[in-house]
Amino acid sequence: MKMGKMRELSHAARDWLRKVRKAGRELFMIDRAIAAIIRLPVVISLGAVRHAPRGCRTKILRGAIRSVSRPAPTGSGEVCEINSLADFNSGYARLAAMLGQAGRGPSPGEVEFLSSIAKRRTSYPGTVGRSDYLFLSALVSILAPQRVIEIGTLTGFSAAIIAAALARRHGGDGTSWVDTIDINVECAIDRTRLSGFEIPETFPELVPLIRLHVPRDATFVLQIAKRDELQVIFIDADHRHPLPLLDLLRVAPCVRSGGWIVLHDIQWGTIGRRAAEAGESLWWGPSYGAEWLFIYWPFRKISGGNIGAVQLPHEKSALVPFALYMMSIQFEIVDKHARTMRRALYESLGALG
Ligand SMILES: C[S@@+](CC[C@H](N)C(=O)[O-])C[C@H]1O[C@@H](n2cnc3c(N)ncnc32)[C@H](O)[C@@H]1O
Repeated sequence: MKMGKMRELSHAARDWLRKVRKAGRELFMIDRAIAAIIRLPVVISLGAVRHAPRGCRTKILRGAIRSVSRPAPTGSGEVCEINSLADFNSGYARLAAMLGQAGRGPSPGEVEFLSSIAKRRTSYPGTVGRSDYLFLSALVSILAPQRVIEIGTLTGFSAAIIAAALARRHGGDGTSWVDTIDINVECAIDRTRLSGFEIPETFPELVPLIRLHVPRDATFVLQIAKRDELQVIFIDADHRHPLPLLDLLRVAPCVRSGGWIVLHDIQWGTIGRRAAEAGESLWWGPSYGAEWLFIYWPFRKISGGNIGAVQLPHEKSALVPFALYMMSIQFEIVDKHARTMRRALYESLGALG
């Protein structure tokens, strides 16, 4: 028999065997049983301890015991929605009081910049909406960190919002900037353009304040920031559970205790599901990763509507039981990708320190 024919036959046999195996697994519901078992809290806890670096095993074990014995709390936390420019000053004052900066007001020019946005740009799908950017601008302006890191650039719009707020607090002398990170070099909504294209096109004055890092993901933060350095991080990347959790755990070593992590699309699962039910077509399907992360966050949190800020606890190891609980919620990704994410989550717990 010719070599080519033999290869063809062996491929056909392999495909047939795969099909038989798959049918068998479906018949006996093996896949579903495995998925249910790996979501059992005790199995997740054992996995966490097994993957933990030697020096951290006891800490992870303690967190695992807490995650099994205590149900995760839920709730919306404090609320500060800023729905229009007319509400900006009052919303800003409320948020400032919540963040321990009562009496602080917007920087000169901040409101004018925000009011110029609608005239300046075309709005693109996937970028932060108006009430989201009013909240984001106010939070950055109130806390006035020296630098902010963003995960998820897309067109660069939210990076520009953050940069503008920083520039108005610190001036544009290069001591303050935004690092924005995206997994895609080409913009996810328009592959003919580069991620971050809106920055030079719409906000050229902010170019010197924004450093674009592509193609990168949240693991890159450990290379550009020191441990406990950051006060504010903005996470707006892949919203499928557990990716926002993984992004948060990956950046947490560089965020100081009491620092804030701003999460976008904390209502995206619900909004997306309702839109799908109403027959509307969406650029991105409904994902609950950011929504669940915010709802189950057991520490301080402030909701601004579809955007929210969660505060890191004093002891970062307190994140371990929370993360293990979150890992028991069915992932919105499957197969090999889910296995890779599970392992990455375990590794990020060990890096919390
Ligand atoms: C919702 S868009 C970000 C919108 C942007 N923050 C804004 O409001 O202007 C999500 C972006 O995250 C990027 N992304 C997806 N997964 C990522 C990951 N694991 N790490 C970094 N970026 C990711 C996508 O390429 C996309 O550009």
